[in-house]
Amino acid sequence: MKSRFAIILAAGQGTRMKSKLYKVLHPILGRPMIQYVIEALKPTKVEKLVTVIGHGAEKVKSEIGNDSQFVLQEEQLGTAHAVMQAEKILENKSGTTIVVCGDTPLITAETFDKLFEYHERSGAKATVLTTNITDPTGYGRVIRGESGDVERIVEHKDASDEEKKVKEINTGTYCFDNEALFSALKKVNNDNAQQEYYLPDVIEILKSQNEKVSAFITEDDKETIGINDRIALSHAENIMKIRINEMHLKNGVTIMDPTNTYIDPNVTIEPDVVVYPGSMLMGDTHIGTNTIIGPNTEIENCTIGQDTVIKQSVLKDSNIGREANIGPFAHIRPETTVGNEVRIGNFVELKKSVIGDNTKIPHLSYIGDANLGNGINIGCGTITVNYDGKEKHVTTIEDNAFIGCNSNLVAPVTIKKGSYVAAGSTITNDVPVDSLAIARSRQTNKKGYAAKMKK
Ligand code: UD1
Ligand code: CA
Repeated sequence: MKSRFAIILAAGQGTRMKSKLYKVLHPILGRPMIQYVIEALKPTKVEKLVTVIGHGAEKVKSEIGNDSQFVLQEEQLGTAHAVMQAEKILENKSGTTIVVCGDTPLITAETFDKLFEYHERSGAKATVLTTNITDPTGYGRVIRGESGDVERIVEHKDASDEEKKVKEINTGTYCFDNEALFSALKKVNNDNAQQEYYLPDVIEILKSQNEKVSAFITEDDKETIGINDRIALSHAENIMKIRINEMHLKNGVTIMDPTNTYIDPNVTIEPDVVVYPGSMLMGDTHIGTNTIIGPNTEIENCTIGQDTVIKQSVLKDSNIGREANIGPFAHIRPETTVGNEVRIGNFVELKKSVIGDNTKIPHLSYIGDANLGNGINIGCGTITVNYDGKEKHVTTIEDNAFIGCNSNLVAPVTIKKGSYVAAGSTITNDVPVDSLAIARSRQTNKKGYAAKMKK
């Protein structure tokens, strides 16, 4: 097999996005669009991957990390000029170079691979990846000669009315013979509507040198969408969403309404999970088998055990055990670990806490900076008073304790094993093992007083 190299173009600002964020960093289901391009290139086994950066260079670089080498295009003079910046890394190397735009995130690894193979088999010096679309507005058009061979590519802004009717577009992805690419680039000029050095001009240059140029037509025009504005971004997000959801459906996950369910690319889900509408599964989340999620549930960077139910809730950076029952309307904030067979009911907020197995917090509670053992019952309206205005303090509740309704547990404080806290208590001192703590004023009944008031 020939050596393979790749160049990703990512130096543009993306003016049409009307954003402070650089175009290639706009997320699609939580992942920056350029990251999809890099992931799809990985299986093609390129020896060198070079990303051309310019606008937001540092940000783009730190987002991509060690997956790529970088070259800086200081001024954005066009896509041919961008590719030229990679010359210092790739010059004189023999092999095939794929060039991909950082704003075409839906092209799959299979398509890249097919393009490489088609190019390597045909012996062409350049092969452009093209597709036929119903509305080609804005894209470069593929102009073919009488024999059907590709002659050149004309940009929308430079195209004649006749050329604008052509439905076959340049997807912005190409394979080149590496040496032929860099020698042809030297001949590209900026004599066009945008006064830019256009990479597609390389096709016409090679053709005029009697070199073989070719096109590989991909059937799936959904893959090749180029994201120049937020309309295209929303289309791409939709396509990616369905692609990811269908992958999970094929793996045995039930998704009741795939158009209304949003799952990030890194999420893993075991078979027989059911996801109800309006749910978002984000970041590095894992869902165990038989678990039911939603409707209207947001889970980010969490590990959820099997046979658990989570309804109408928000969870972030936390771990949940098996056979837990969460919601509706629970809020589980970062660094929380919930054990097995735990009940977290409506309007319960947990933060940076550990909740042991079989513990129940069924309604209206705030549990923050707390360590709870197993088999505890937390009465409705219980609050861990964790913040004194300066620092956070820890509440510890040991196994099998019973906390009565509407209790305040003023941290730092420990409720020892098997103890009871009477309803309405404000607990400021530790409670010993198997004891009852009552911390509220006694009731007095004034006999007949109400009747007297009514007279
Ligand atoms: C480009 C193609 C067009 C094709 C379309 C497919 C050219 C001249 N036109 O048009 O034929 O149909 O893609 O989506 O190539 N970039 C740089 N440096 C530059 C200019 C651009 O790095 O100086 C990068 C951009 O950041 C972007 C990519 O190259 O990721 C494509 O640039 P863009 O301006 O979006 O080109 P299009 O007008 O979409
Ligand atoms: Ca583009």
